[in-house]
Amino acid sequence: MIDLRSDTKTMPTEAKVGDDVVGEDPTVNELEAVAAELLGKEAGLLVTSGTQGNIVSLLALTRPGQKLILEQDAHIFHYERGGVARLAGLLVHTLPGHYGAMNPEEVEAAIWREELHRAPTGAVALENTHNRAGGTCLSVEHTNDICQVAHRHGVPVHIDGARIFDAAVALGVDARELVAEADSVTFCLSKSLGAPVGSVICGEEGFIARAREYRKMLGGGMRQAGIIAKPGLIALEQELPRLHEDHKKARRIAETLAELPGVRLDLATVQTNMVLFELQREDMTAPQLCEQLAEYKIRAKARSEVQIRLVLHRDISFRDTEQVCVALRETLGAGS
Ligand SMILES: Cc1ncc(COP(=O)(O)O)c(C=O)c1O
Repeated sequence: MIDLRSDTKTMPTEAKVGDDVVGEDPTVNELEAVAAELLGKEAGLLVTSGTQGNIVSLLALTRPGQKLILEQDAHIFHYERGGVARLAGLLVHTLPGHYGAMNPEEVEAAIWREELHRAPTGAVALENTHNRAGGTCLSVEHTNDICQVAHRHGVPVHIDGARIFDAAVALGVDARELVAEADSVTFCLSKSLGAPVGSVICGEEGFIARAREYRKMLGGGMRQAGIIAKPGLIALEQELPRLHEDHKKARRIAETLAELPGVRLDLATVQTNMVLFELQREDMTAPQLCEQLAEYKIRAKARSEVQIRLVLHRDISFRDTEQVCVALRETLGAGS
């Protein structure tokens, strides 16, 4: 094939690729099909990141001037640069959550009755697992309850499922069940699944066609994106079966921490690959603990003067996990 259409068609030497902007990359197409199958949806769409997946989904589901209902600690609200306001023109209405789960009755009350003065509700967004709550899971029942409430009012539901497969593993359910009632879901290849880059949006074909237009608008149409899709496919094949190991490592560290003085940790939040805890000590702040851990060649990041989140993943072995436990006992074992 002599392709003179554009210099965007150039091929890397070792991969089955094509121009994904026009749907010609076989590896991307395969990834999208595998992702859709894993989540029981009609179609998938590769996007650059979780953030892009969320904004593209919400652009495709809503109109500017509508309202987005989401939990007050949602990633979309805290960490996506206000894109839903700036790019999708959505008015954000946050509700409190219990381990990341909003009360369905409060969601229903927040879906204002259509009338002249009120912004109509354009979408409800859920987050599973819930990052700021410490990697907690939304159950199938809860998700279905929220979807029923929203759908009763003609409002679609988007799931920010950056780590949806972790939720499925922890809950012991098929990921399809977790998103069955939702209109759209985004999951990340580059988080617990360990691929270098990319996320996938899944939903009905019509929704994905609209999402494809918004992805293009945001500059997320990539050409020979098979080089990104390939590691994504490998991640889905190889990493899904071992996600439970990360949860085990997180549990091990959490149980160690919970026994140390001046550590506040709610073990009920330790459901997947994260450990969220607070230090309530006279002798040490969270950033200072991170500095001490660095001396053990352990990198951790404080979220505030008191809070730290540790995230377990493929590259942390069980042996590393034990080393972390030793370091935590040595740094926090004495004092208060
Ligand atoms: C729940 C959740 N949603 C979305 C994102 C955004 O993903 P990305 O960093 O790929 O934009 C993250 C990132 O940590 C996340 O935890």
